[in-house]
Amino acid sequence: MQKICKSFPLAVGGTQQVLFDITFNVRAGEFVAIMGPSGSGKSTCMNIIGALDTPTSGKYELYGQDITNMTNDDLALVRNEYIGFVFQNFNLLPKRNVLDNVMLPLMYRGVSPEERVRRSREMLHRVGLENFETYFPAQLSGGMKQRVAIARALTGSPKLILADEPTGALDSKMGNEILRFFKQLNKDMGITVVMITHEFEIAQYSNRIIHIYDGRINYDGPVPKTETALNKQTDGKKK
Ligand SMILES: Nc1ncnc2c1ncn2[C@@H]1O[C@H](COP(=O)(O)OP(=O)(O)OP(=O)(O)O)[C@@H](O)[C@H]1O
Ligand SMILES: [Mg+2]
Repeated sequence: MQKICKSFPLAVGGTQQVLFDITFNVRAGEFVAIMGPSGSGKSTCMNIIGALDTPTSGKYELYGQDITNMTNDDLALVRNEYIGFVFQNFNLLPKRNVLDNVMLPLMYRGVSPEERVRRSREMLHRVGLENFETYFPAQLSGGMKQRVAIARALTGSPKLILADEPTGALDSKMGNEILRFFKQLNKDMGITVVMITHEFEIAQYSNRIIHIYDGRINYDGPVPKTETALNKQTDGKKK
C-alpha cells in the first residue's frame, strides 16, 4: 500500500483523519505484526488490508489487483478468494454447528456439498477438532472457538490470514497455542499472516513489526530485542 490516508466523517460535521501516508508492502510468506496503542488506527488499517474498506486516498494493491476504487461487490469477491479472517471474538454463527461454521467460506463458491464437507473436515482435523463437528460454539472453550475460526479461515484456501487481536479474548496458555498455530501455518503452508496486537510478547511470534502511532508508521522492521526500540524512531523524528 502506498500513502494510504483514511478519514471518517464526524457526527458533528467535517472529518477526522485516522491514517496518514501509510506505506508498506507485505511479501508472500511473511508473518507481520501490526502494533500500536488503542486508537492508533490498527483496525482501520486492517480493514483496508482486508478489503473490508477502501482508503480515502492513496493506492492499495492486493495480489496485483488495484482495490482502491473497487465496488463493494468486487471487494467481496477479492476477500473471498484471497483472505481468511480471524477476529478477537471469533465471530462464529451461534446457531450453526462447528462443521457448518467451517464450511461457510465455501458456500459462496461453486463447490459441491460433498467437497465442502470433505474440505471442512480436513481443516477441522488440522486444528485438532475432528471430534467436535456437531458441537455448537457455546459448547466450546475460547481456545476451541478460535481454532474453529481458524479452520473456517483456512477452508477457503486463503493466501493471506488477517487476524485482529486473535488472542485478545483468551488466557495466555490458549493464546500461545493459537500463536504457535499461526506460526506453523506460516512456516509449513507458506500462508502469509498479518496479525494485529498491542502486546509486544504476542508480536514476537512474527518476523516483522509495523508499529503505528497516531495513524503514522514509526517503526517497520524485524522484531527488536526490547519494546522500547519500537518507539525510538518517534523520539528522533518528532512528528
Ligand atoms: N467507522 C468509523 N467511523 C468513525 N471513526 C472511526 C471508525 N472506525 C474507527 N474510527 C476512529 O479511528 C480511530 C482509530 O480506530 P481503530 O479502531 O483503527 O484503532 P485501533 O488501533 O484498532 O484501536 P484498538 O486497539 O482500541 O482496537 C479512532 O479514533 C476511532 O474512533
Ligand atoms: Mg482495533
